[in-house]
Amino acid sequence: MVKDAFHDKDFRDRVQLGAVNSINWARVLAQITYYFYSWFRVTDGLRSHADNNLSVNYVVPTGNFGNVLAGYYAKLMGLPIDKLVLATNANDVLHRFVATGEYRHQHTRATIAPSMDVSVSSNFERYLFYLAGEDTALVRTWMETFETTGSLTVPEQYLQKVRTEFLSWSSSKSEIIDTMRNVYEKHHYLICPHTAAAAAAARRHRLDPAHTVVLATAHPAKFEDTVLLACPHHVLPPRPDILMEVFDRPVRKTLLPPALDDIELFIKTRVIEQEAASTHEALARGGRKTNSATSSGWSSAMWWASVTIGAAAAAGAAFFVLRHHEQIRRLLRR
Ligand SMILES: Cc1ncc(COP(=O)(O)O)c(C=O)c1O
Repeated sequence: MVKDAFHDKDFRDRVQLGAVNSINWARVLAQITYYFYSWFRVTDGLRSHADNNLSVNYVVPTGNFGNVLAGYYAKLMGLPIDKLVLATNANDVLHRFVATGEYRHQHTRATIAPSMDVSVSSNFERYLFYLAGEDTALVRTWMETFETTGSLTVPEQYLQKVRTEFLSWSSSKSEIIDTMRNVYEKHHYLICPHTAAAAAAARRHRLDPAHTVVLATAHPAKFEDTVLLACPHHVLPPRPDILMEVFDRPVRKTLLPPALDDIELFIKTRVIEQEAASTHEALARGGRKTNSATSSGWSSAMWWASVTIGAAAAAGAAFFVLRHHEQIRRLLRR
């Protein structure tokens, strides 16, 4: 539905629609830096040995295929990445794609790793563009098939290519919880459920820990209930200040029917209300501005008046001295 809203040009322009998730390419762009940064950290000390394997695997908790696409771009830019691992939860559309070559729409299931609860990955077609060898006509055919049938299957040669670049895993709830517990018991490091899905995928694929980065995507304090399920005897770490602020804010929510028209109408109404409020505020500020303009005009007039009076007085004094300089000299001599 978000994508449909973006396709509605009038609506998009009217409300200046933007996304803060990875539909917005700027987010993906920023995430590319993580891969470079961590690659340099992992290969520190190895780079001077020419015979060392400098390829790094990245295991990425994924829903919208955004963060992992950033890794793919880093690889296209030349970063030595071996495998990108798609770590999913029960919403395993991407995992099934790597397993079977079929990308099929399914209903979203609510899980304990909610940021990965995505049934259609917004960035997937961005990857398909590269998979199709930048053949836009082919991507269009694939996507049109997907739009009309809810499924697309890539031919075998493309699937082989996918598998040279990606591995995947889908973690169940119990696997996520067990992984959180195991990582905590072994390393005294608390991870969030999304990160645990990735750690589980890394373990399943037996990736070499020396050359593997598991991306941690959220602070565990955001998922206290799940942390308590995984580590019931663990005292929760204090919430970071920035998170406290968010938790302290009032929750505002409006329930809407799952219909694009209703959602667009709701957003438009909000935007119009806000525009009216800011126009009102600007007018009020404009009024004060007039006052302050008047007062600044007044003070500038005062300044000019004092300069003029001062100059006139100085000119008058000079004239008087010139005219009566003989008498003044005589007076001073006495
Ligand atoms: C904590 C967390 N983990 C994983 C994801 C999934 O990432 P992506 O949608 O980029 O695949 C998100 C997305 O916002 C997230 O917030």
